[in-house]
Amino acid sequence: MNQYLRTQRGKNELNKISNSQELATIKSKTLNAIAIRLNHLNHQQNKGDYQIMVCRGTGCTSSKSSEIMEELNSEIKKNKLKDRVQVIQTGCFGFCELGPILLIHPDKTFYTNVSPKDAKEIVESHIIEGVCVERLLYRSPVNKEIQKRMEDMDFYKKQRRVVLRNCSVINPEDIKEYIAVDGYLAVANILRDKLPPNQIIDEIEKSGLRGRGGGGFSTGLKWRYVSQYKNDRKYVICNADEGDPGAFMDRSILEGDPHSIIEAMIICGYAIGATEGKIYIRAEYPLATRRLITAINDAKDCGLLGKNIMNSGFDFDIELKYGAGAFVCGEETALIHSIEGERGEPTIKPPFPAEAGYWEKPTTVNNVETFANIPIILLKGADWFRSMGTEKSKGTKVFALASKVNNVGLIEVPMGITLREIIYDIGGGIRKGKRFKAVQTGGPSGGCLTEKDLDIPIDYDTLIEKGSMMGSGGMIVMDEDNCMPNIAKFYMGFIVEESCGKCTPCREGTKRLYEILDRITSGEGTLEDLDTLEELSNMIKDTALCGLGQTAPNPVLSTLNNFYEEYLIHVVHKKCPAGQCKKLLTYMIDAENCIGCTVCARGCPVNAIVGKRKEAHLIDQDKCIKCGICFNSCQFHAIIKK
Ligand SMILES: Cc1cc2nc3c(=O)[nH]c(=O)nc-3n(C[C@H](O)[C@H](O)[C@H](O)COP(=O)(O)O)c2cc1C
Ligand code: SF4
Ligand code: SF4
Ligand code: FES
Repeated sequence: MNQYLRTQRGKNELNKISNSQELATIKSKTLNAIAIRLNHLNHQQNKGDYQIMVCRGTGCTSSKSSEIMEELNSEIKKNKLKDRVQVIQTGCFGFCELGPILLIHPDKTFYTNVSPKDAKEIVESHIIEGVCVERLLYRSPVNKEIQKRMEDMDFYKKQRRVVLRNCSVINPEDIKEYIAVDGYLAVANILRDKLPPNQIIDEIEKSGLRGRGGGGFSTGLKWRYVSQYKNDRKYVICNADEGDPGAFMDRSILEGDPHSIIEAMIICGYAIGATEGKIYIRAEYPLATRRLITAINDAKDCGLLGKNIMNSGFDFDIELKYGAGAFVCGEETALIHSIEGERGEPTIKPPFPAEAGYWEKPTTVNNVETFANIPIILLKGADWFRSMGTEKSKGTKVFALASKVNNVGLIEVPMGITLREIIYDIGGGIRKGKRFKAVQTGGPSGGCLTEKDLDIPIDYDTLIEKGSMMGSGGMIVMDEDNCMPNIAKFYMGFIVEESCGKCTPCREGTKRLYEILDRITSGEGTLEDLDTLEELSNMIKDTALCGLGQTAPNPVLSTLNNFYEEYLIHVVHKKCPAGQCKKLLTYMIDAENCIGCTVCARGCPVNAIVGKRKEAHLIDQDKCIKCGICFNSCQFHAIIKK
């Protein structure tokens, strides 16, 4: 087979690796090349060399990090520094909001918001003169202090990078660099020692690893079920569909460390008795796809994937399958149908894929982040993994921290950390000094947590207890300006669009929920609507066929539970306390503050503002379409939004 595009690297210079000894040789040779990044050199050994790590994740690439690499290389050439300075691409650092990001070793200087025109100054000042480019250093949003290195930054201090261990450290397109950081060592050890599959499954089960795709099912147990079914064929599927709005955890892992997923899938195949793997990836992830293709080709060229891996007699191959971006296709039975070429619709479970999955054969479906944990668990042991986290949720979790926090980004934290630590210590608090209102975890399947939940430990069970869920790792922070019925409407709008329509409660019920929320946020809701919202939500939860419908009402129920008062104000007083529901707003002009500058009147698209120059203006409420342009343009705070 080869459906894969050959990458542009020209003649293949990779040799087959036949045993763990040869793997160790590659490791030791490459380790020298990357020692500067791993703190393995002292000052004298370093000889004044530099390695400039340039983030080539999707975020930084879209803000010109490839041009930065080109400019840096050209400056290095111009200054005849090629022997001393290397420019290396990496995966995501997590702080994408401040991208493009660049990290210079050995001093570990972390530069943010770099642009191609900064390359000259970086080379001349930092490399040649040894003086940092201060304006590109990170400043804490809290006290404005410079935090020069990653480990100095509040954003990273409470993080623990296990899954993201190689992102930002190695070049994701260089298999030798992955090998240098013990990549493929776990699988090499297993194949060399012909480890009994059960022993691997025992270790994974003992580690307590639970699925990171949302459900939180024990990974070891899932593998054990599949391994126990006897069949001539079994399959390993990696779920890289990642459909939650705002989530990019899996994409970043695939872009930054694609070999870790390949290695984990080989291990899984060996453990459950499968020789074929599929990665179901969103077609909207071109960079992750390209890096996976390169990684798969390189692993094959090295004899680490395909037939007779490392001369062990074990075969395992991986094929990519592309999803078209339908949220429901992340549900495992829908995903399997989609790979089979059928409509991506879920089916009733049982039977679970572990018994009858792809082409009715025993199949394990695991999430990207789940897989990324596997090689390191086997290298460091279940006890090491169990030492992180809470009693029932072990290890770390990657979250996409978004919206109203100062430090938006991709973070990895030990399970059990509190929301307060994430939002205030890592996230740097709420933007513009506003008040924290709620945080939505688990995306459309999750719910809102509030101020009273800020100190709960984040783990699978506590989040469910509080009416939300872990989900795959989206974390949307909201402040006083967010309207909760409006938030519920946003998620319900998403669900209505994404429901596959196979079962009536989800197809019809979520539409009705959306209509009710639309009425409430338009000032046409009634008290009866609030009861119907709750009743209908519970009915959909109990009767929908798949997880999409079963969890769809969560944002409605959790906002109703936590913010009932806000719903009441919408329904009874026809007002939106957060000032978000357009139809419930009135824009007025405060005559005392208005100096008659006419800015608002000139900007109003419907000429609703009248008044003479240098005199207080007025808004004609019959004409006003509540666009908010005047509110945003007035510099004298004369426009009141109520
Ligand atoms: C509507 C819906 C969407 C889902 N989307 C994803 C997804 O994008 N990625 C993912 O890994 N799991 C997703 N899941 C969960 C999967 O069905 C499945 O539980 C998971 O891939 C199992 O892997 P894990 O045990 O490693 O978490 C989704 C579930 C539902 C109900
Ligand atoms: S619950 Fe919704 S998404 Fe799931 S099968 Fe039914 S209609 Fe389709
Ligand atoms: S809200 Fe818009 S339409 Fe209404 S007065 Fe202001 S600018 Fe004009
Ligand atoms: S993509 Fe560069 S930091 Fe995330």
